Amino acid sequence: MVFANFVGGEWVPSVSRATLENRNPANARDLVGEFPDSTAADAVAAIAAAKRAFESWRLVPAPRRAEILFRAAQIIGARKEEYARAMTREMGKVLDETRGDVQEAIDMTYFLAAEGRRLYGQTAPSELRDKFAMSMRQPLGVCSMITPWNFPMAIPSWKIIPALVCGNTVVLKPSELTPLSALHFVKVLEEAGVPPGVVNLVTGGPAVGETLTTHPDVAVVSFTGSSAVGKLVNQNAAPFFKKVHLEMGGKNAIMIMDDANLDLALEGCLWGGFGTTGQRCTAASRVIVHEKVHDRFVEQFVARAAALRVGDGLDPNTQMGPSISDKQLQKVMSYVEIGKQEGARIACGGRRLNEGDYQYGHFHEPTIFTHVSPAMRVAREEIFGPVVSVIKCKSVDDAVAITNDVVYGLSASIYTQDLNRAFRAMRDVYTGIFYVNAPTIGAEVHLPFGGTKATGNGHREAGLAALEVFSEWKSVYVDFSGKLQRAQIDTENL
Ligand code: UN1
Repeated sequence: MVFANFVGGEWVPSVSRATLENRNPANARDLVGEFPDSTAADAVAAIAAAKRAFESWRLVPAPRRAEILFRAAQIIGARKEEYARAMTREMGKVLDETRGDVQEAIDMTYFLAAEGRRLYGQTAPSELRDKFAMSMRQPLGVCSMITPWNFPMAIPSWKIIPALVCGNTVVLKPSELTPLSALHFVKVLEEAGVPPGVVNLVTGGPAVGETLTTHPDVAVVSFTGSSAVGKLVNQNAAPFFKKVHLEMGGKNAIMIMDDANLDLALEGCLWGGFGTTGQRCTAASRVIVHEKVHDRFVEQFVARAAALRVGDGLDPNTQMGPSISDKQLQKVMSYVEIGKQEGARIACGGRRLNEGDYQYGHFHEPTIFTHVSPAMRVAREEIFGPVVSVIKCKSVDDAVAITNDVVYGLSASIYTQDLNRAFRAMRDVYTGIFYVNAPTIGAEVHLPFGGTKATGNGHREAGLAALEVFSEWKSVYVDFSGKLQRAQIDTENL
């Protein structure tokens, strides 16, 4: 099936007529569909449509905008199973997880649509008589969004819904690897009654991304992906003073103290490290274990990881799906080599799976490195695959220092029964997200999501923080005295 872009309320092919194939990562023989390999001209047309639509959408009362979005959440809810299955087919993660992805889009839509009846500003007493002072949120205009393949519906929803409720219009470029789930989301918005031009979808590669980050009519760029590409996005947008929101890499750590409930920590490490095949920016790719419990923990962790059933995510027996693409699999394999050369030991896994049906997909064994020092690349760089590095530590302070000693700062967690240690780590770990007695993944929609250092540029999405990305403040003073009143600073010296 050949799919189309959505520009100005019409489903249209790329002006180039070229298409990209979207294939099932568990089975390359399965063609999910063909999607426009769009050009800069397609992106320009979408930006123009969004610019036109902004003039009327910004004037639709926010509670009315919200009603449309609530309807969208209901429609997705009714199609959850269908969309989850389609997502597993294009992205590979197991069905339970794609159901979760769709659910996250539903939750985010309900949560942020509700802001249509809030979008609160402040009122403040003026320093002068007969003068009223207040602040209010205003939309910025056209927001471009570049989203990754690992949460193909949830992440577009994190960006599109707050943008719309605030009164902006949108051009979305989803990953070339997972355009179908983004298209489903946009289709639902159309059905729910979002007017033509308010949301536009342009599929394709870097040519589209470049236009979306440099076009003068784009006010906001919201990007989720690697830190390397995020840097380019930032550089592209900087000369135009665009508002840029970046959500990038992670090298998240689970710290396990000697007093931890090890059974609980074990479940957390399996889920955090190998859930979504390690392809979450929140994935627990480092496990930092107190030396007193290290050997006992590693033995169990290795036994359980080695027993994970790897396969097609549509098979109910599968616990871990494939890597998204051959390129991603090659990256995983290259890090396995790097780890070996650095002197880390493979405690389980370490090989690509390519026998039988595996040969048609991008499968890799769940892999654990032990004897890892914090200086090794496998302990510092984001792998984005089923590879976990176990590092020994001596104390909570040591664990915190190791956790912080990477360029990223998205998520971290500690397993301990000791309240004092938990609170110390909570305070001293410099990340955007922190968990106690839970893995590094599993953020909820109503709290800010994002990270420090090379993970982000200070913004957060989700929660009410999303409104800060997609609106800006206007302070308004109303003088009802009927005369010129100078502000206090301008009268003091008269
Ligand atoms: C991501 O990996 O880009 O916290 C997002 C979590 C999910 C979102 C992950 N709710 O793991």
